[in-house]
Amino acid sequence: MHRGFALSSQPRTADPLAEAAIAEITSGMIVGLGTGRTASRAITALSERVRDEKLDIRCVPTSHVTETLARSQGLPLIDFAMEEEVDYLFDGADEVDPMLRMIKGAGGAMTRERIVAYAAKRRVYMVQEAKMVHRLGERASLPVAVLAFGLASTRASLRRLGLNGVVRRTMDGHLFLTDNGSLIIDVTLTEGRSLDELAAEINDIPGVLDHGLFLDEADEVLVETKAGSIERLHRPMPE
Ligand code: A5P
Repeated sequence: MHRGFALSSQPRTADPLAEAAIAEITSGMIVGLGTGRTASRAITALSERVRDEKLDIRCVPTSHVTETLARSQGLPLIDFAMEEEVDYLFDGADEVDPMLRMIKGAGGAMTRERIVAYAAKRRVYMVQEAKMVHRLGERASLPVAVLAFGLASTRASLRRLGLNGVVRRTMDGHLFLTDNGSLIIDVTLTEGRSLDELAAEINDIPGVLDHGLFLDEADEVLVETKAGSIERLHRPMPE
């Protein structure tokens, strides 16, 4: 079967979602690499394009896990601390509502994911159909990254906002530590909240480093249907 670029003897992986997410990437770009299973699919597809098309790109990973994967696939990585801008970011998400607002951070990588997203000129997110919700928090909990110092008082401050949660632990019962050495409190988002106000209130709590509400980041969301087709959702234009 002909699959586009026939320069290499190795076949390309057929992954329409991943290929759609990386289609706009061209030589010369700095590319932000998201974290998670879905982003990993796009990283694999991107490494295949780099190999087959000799794409000349530089990549910024959003987590240690992504860095390891990208390195193992031969993607050229750069030190993001030295870069002011990223041309293009692809990433996954845990929930997306009809306004393209998202919950992220099931993997605990949202702090770096947000920093790279903020620096990126274009941000494209990928989700499976089941992650589309009417209301954020319908299924996913909202991760809040906090400094271990002050854990109990920060958690009490979240509770005063009506956000009850549990401190995330690993499968073997240890405290889950993010790449930045912070802890995660997974809180329950209840109905009837203004998400903009809530995000600002969470940000105002000393000891909170970041959270998983990504309200403005998505320029486009690619949705993978159960049948395997891809739907494109664009951010609604402001009125
Ligand atoms: C990482 O912390 C997250 O923000 C992920 O991007 C998100 O959880 C999506 O991951 P999956 O593609 O693995 O579901």
